[in-house]
Amino acid sequence: MERFDRIEWGPEFGIGNQKIDAEHKSLITIHNKLVDFIQQGKTRKEMAEILSELADHSLKHFQTEEQYMEKLGYPKTEEHKNLHKEFIYKISMFNSNLLSDHPPKPEEIIRFLHYWWFEHIQQHDLEYENFQKQHPEHQSR
Ligand SMILES: [Fe+2]
Repeated sequence: MERFDRIEWGPEFGIGNQKIDAEHKSLITIHNKLVDFIQQGKTRKEMAEILSELADHSLKHFQTEEQYMEKLGYPKTEEHKNLHKEFIYKISMFNSNLLSDHPPKPEEIIRFLHYWWFEHIQQHDLEYENFQKQHPEHQSR
């Protein structure tokens, strides 16, 4: 079984937007709390609680990003919003399945989250921030 450790925040996660970087950092903190919980062998109910904390904070954070992209006139806003929707759907499913008779393996949840955050921040979030840098005139719209 592959081992998934905590995500250590490093410069490779910074997209160069102070507010968004700070929000990503606190989401990673919640992610790490979940990894710790799993390693400590906490109950599924306790894991589900952290997962819903992650869902709540992600929702708020996605709102920040979506308003920002709309203000920028970023052409891939809708596409990006769909990625957010899929994420929320996926973790809600994990969450309800955790408390069912056929719970997902904790490693499965971590693996999904781990890859999602890396890919999402380093590719998709970086892309709208690069758009902003290339079109600074959009900022004041
Ligand atoms: Fe995003």
